[in-house]
Amino acid sequence: MACAKDVSRPAVAIAVDDHMAVPVLNLKAQYAGIRSRIDEAVRTVLESGHFVLGPNVAALEEELGAFLGVTKAVTMASGTDALHLSLRALGVGPGDLVLIPAFTFVATATAVSYVGARPVFVDIEAKTFNVDPDRVRDYLAEKAPGPRPDGRLKAMIPVHLYGQPADMEPLLALARSHGVALIEDAAQAIGAMYHGKRVGGLGDVGCFSFYPTKNLGAMGDGGLATTQDQALGDHLLRLRVYGGRQRYLHEELGFNSRLDEIQAAVLRVKLGFLGEWTARRHAIAARYRAGLAGLGLTVPLERTDSTHVYHQFTIRVPDRDAVRGRMAERGVQTAVYYPLPLHLQPLYRELGYGTGDFPEAERAAREVLCLPMYPELTDAQVDEVVEACRRSL
Ligand SMILES: Cc1ncc(COP(=O)(O)O)c(C=O)c1O
Repeated sequence: MACAKDVSRPAVAIAVDDHMAVPVLNLKAQYAGIRSRIDEAVRTVLESGHFVLGPNVAALEEELGAFLGVTKAVTMASGTDALHLSLRALGVGPGDLVLIPAFTFVATATAVSYVGARPVFVDIEAKTFNVDPDRVRDYLAEKAPGPRPDGRLKAMIPVHLYGQPADMEPLLALARSHGVALIEDAAQAIGAMYHGKRVGGLGDVGCFSFYPTKNLGAMGDGGLATTQDQALGDHLLRLRVYGGRQRYLHEELGFNSRLDEIQAAVLRVKLGFLGEWTARRHAIAARYRAGLAGLGLTVPLERTDSTHVYHQFTIRVPDRDAVRGRMAERGVQTAVYYPLPLHLQPLYRELGYGTGDFPEAERAAREVLCLPMYPELTDAQVDEVVEACRRSL
């Protein structure tokens, strides 16, 4: 029976087509590989009768804190909440300005809007798709579009897009010299390293997402905020449960952003596989690189001072949409993260930006093509993607 598309429901982030020879993602295959461990972990929670902020959440926070090398790891209901509550914990509020890349997922910007602050967009580097420290410098020198900093600039949120760390050293130096906080949006980059340290522990706060498609994904929503500052970590703990130190005594406006025990138990199982899965992502990336060599495509840059965790393997294709369509005809599903930069989103129309303000972000939105990338891909499937790409150019 044909099923009419329900346009009253907003589109989900990803529509996996299981009928493709190579779908863009395959979470069923991931579950099949670890089914007994997941089932056991979930059953144990169900039998415990303890469903929210219980022993699995506490253990997960310890384990993630140790893995990421941070003083405090605070789980939350989503990565978006982690960004939102981090901004609040850092005191960012109405009238403040927050620098973010023009090319990222919308949540980086909406978190800024949630606290009443204004996102200020900055262009990205062509080679990494991450915020360009030189363009941040231009903005601070009032040589780039956007409102003048005028003491209202309170924070910057570089994003480690696609799993590749942003260039943190110059960004941290700029943040420190201008007295602004730095929040890492590490939603896509768990485990990635920059100058020998894991992302999420480099700035004032690090924010991660456990959305199911992420490298470490829950079976529902989840997020994490990390910090090296104990007091800030304690503040985040309060913000996620109604803003009090003591039960039924509320000192500030807090939220309900708790992670549940089932998600925590699932994440603990999956955290045990993350190293293996990331290694497989690297092997797939190397196979893509070898297979696509000589086709005139731009493949992801591998920086020598950091490690990419390949949440996405994103290539640039000038005639992107046509190539994408031809690859789909050959049974290979791809994705476009993201087709419209933030400064051109209807949501931010009133900020007054226009086409041409951030040329690299606009070019990225036209050219990026994300190939299937998940540990369960077989070498044969990777070769199929390469072949489809080669024949579709
Ligand atoms: C760069 C980036 N920031 C923030 C988020 C928000 O995370 P969540 O979906 O868990 O709220 C995501 C993922 O969805 C993301 O990719």
